[in-house]
Amino acid sequence: MKLGRLNHIGVATPSIADSVAFYRDIMGATHIHAPFDLPEQGVKVCFVDTPGSNGTAGTQIELIEPLPGNTSIKGFLDKNPQGGQHHVCYEVPDIHVAKQWFESQGKRVLGEPRIGAHGTLIFFVHPRDMQGVLTEIMETPKSAH
Ligand code: CO
Repeated sequence: MKLGRLNHIGVATPSIADSVAFYRDIMGATHIHAPFDLPEQGVKVCFVDTPGSNGTAGTQIELIEPLPGNTSIKGFLDKNPQGGQHHVCYEVPDIHVAKQWFESQGKRVLGEPRIGAHGTLIFFVHPRDMQGVLTEIMETPKSAH
């Protein structure tokens, strides 16, 4: 297992539009991407950039709003009506090596690797096996950010 950069922090929200206004007007974010639907995962997502050091890509905030029929994010919002931190996502050089590693350590990988919001393969690891943190593992994009 080779830990890569903290790619993003997932934040569930009942309204991406309201959250975009918050990150722009209160947090001073200047680079907010266009929201888009990820129907395979039942969510609408929107990335907010934070600056990295020396011109590198910084960690993003991934705003997540449930699409109709979504159960997992909807359930999260039922418990946390104003939204809140949902998961953290680390990059790895090879998704399949990472999956084997976590499974060999007895960590529950949730489903098979699938295409995530950045267009590269991702999987989630059960929060109860990860110190209480729902953890997304993402293969580093081959092109620069
Ligand atoms: Co994510």
